[in-house]
Amino acid sequence: MTYKCIGLMSGTSLDGIDAALVNVSADGNTIHFLHGITRPFSDSLRKKLMGLAVNETVNKEELARMDALMGHLLSDVVEQLLKESGTETKDILLVASHGQTIGHYPDKENQYGHSIAFTLQIGDGDVMAARTGIPVVSDFRRRDMAVGGEGAPLIPLLDSLLFQNTEQNRCCLNIGGIANITVLPACGSTPMAFDTGPGNCLSDLAAARLIDHGLKFDPGGENAFCGKIHDEILDRAMADAYFTQLPPKSTSREYFDEKFLNFLLGLEKNVPFGDMVATVSCLTPRSIADALHRFVPVDNFPKEMIVSGGGVHNRFFMEKLKLLLPEMNVVSSGKYGIDPDFKEAMGFALMGYRTMKGLPSSIPEVTGARLPQILGKISLTTSAFHFFQRDKGDD
Ligand SMILES: Nc1ncnc2c1ncn2[C@@H]1O[C@H](COP(=O)(O)OP(=O)(O)O)[C@@H](O)[C@H]1O
Ligand SMILES: [Mg+2]
Repeated sequence: MTYKCIGLMSGTSLDGIDAALVNVSADGNTIHFLHGITRPFSDSLRKKLMGLAVNETVNKEELARMDALMGHLLSDVVEQLLKESGTETKDILLVASHGQTIGHYPDKENQYGHSIAFTLQIGDGDVMAARTGIPVVSDFRRRDMAVGGEGAPLIPLLDSLLFQNTEQNRCCLNIGGIANITVLPACGSTPMAFDTGPGNCLSDLAAARLIDHGLKFDPGGENAFCGKIHDEILDRAMADAYFTQLPPKSTSREYFDEKFLNFLLGLEKNVPFGDMVATVSCLTPRSIADALHRFVPVDNFPKEMIVSGGGVHNRFFMEKLKLLLPEMNVVSSGKYGIDPDFKEAMGFALMGYRTMKGLPSSIPEVTGARLPQILGKISLTTSAFHFFQRDKGDD
């Protein structure tokens, strides 16, 4: 028995919404991709979302209304996916939506004797359930934080179900706005996973600022290929405290933002813009390789790196990873039939299903939480109750 579910992901790159239609097995351990679409954000929407995500103070009405608007935009994508794939609403068990991250504050701060760790993803699940008529699971990260976790990374469960293998130590790298890694030991032990630092975010900013204001990213990494890498700047960047902090750890684009770029640009005067794009871009593969060497025990050191996320299209990142990690075979997740642009959306579909089933999806050793958690909030529709009844004892 399998169930059709839809997963939605819109990450920190703010490029748009990825939607994946998948089949999930009744036990919540197997997933099969059926169809995917990406709907890019318009320039003006991207600018507004960027403002909310990076500005320290925001207008509360604007934020609240954007929560509703994102709920509608995500619903539009669900409708488009159903149409394109020729699927009927009644055949979908649930939509699982990550939402757009506006702030991520996992630090272990206390006020009035209580933890105030928090993360904010917008795109109201109630709007989506009302619009689509499909039950929606949203807001996946907070439950893990409520029990002391980072709320991230959550994709390691999917990585381990798809790629963990008894023959070979492997790792999965996702290069979104931020990059994260999941190390999958061949012995079958629990994965190790954390955010390594910048993914595309700094290279995107550098391309727009130093090459052409109209560029959203450096296509194929071609500008980075043309510049010279300044090692002294890279070394100074690598001295940032995030890179040496022990996992569990997670970060966000509020950390690797314009201010961080300004700091890098200020380190050496008179460096040509093209060289700066190459150097800033190189921080992504360099911090990934450094994190693996620094934190992964030799016995578990991966032989293969399976890469997903938009950064897989940046050939500069891929080439540099191969150079910096010669002991590893660096491949796209496409090698295993997993479209690199939809892996995360698939992951949320799987987690949404597991939530409806009452199964946990977080891995405490990864997030630092006290216990595994059933993640997310459910916005119900009557169809969900049919599932709960039909579901009794079907696996
Ligand atoms: N052809 C390409 N060349 C270089 N970079 C690309 C290309 N296509 C996508 N990207 C990068 O991937 C990003 C989107 O990746 P994605 O995995 O969706 O990240 P996120 O999860 O943060 O939204 C873009 O912002 C861009 O930086
Ligand atoms: Mg994206």
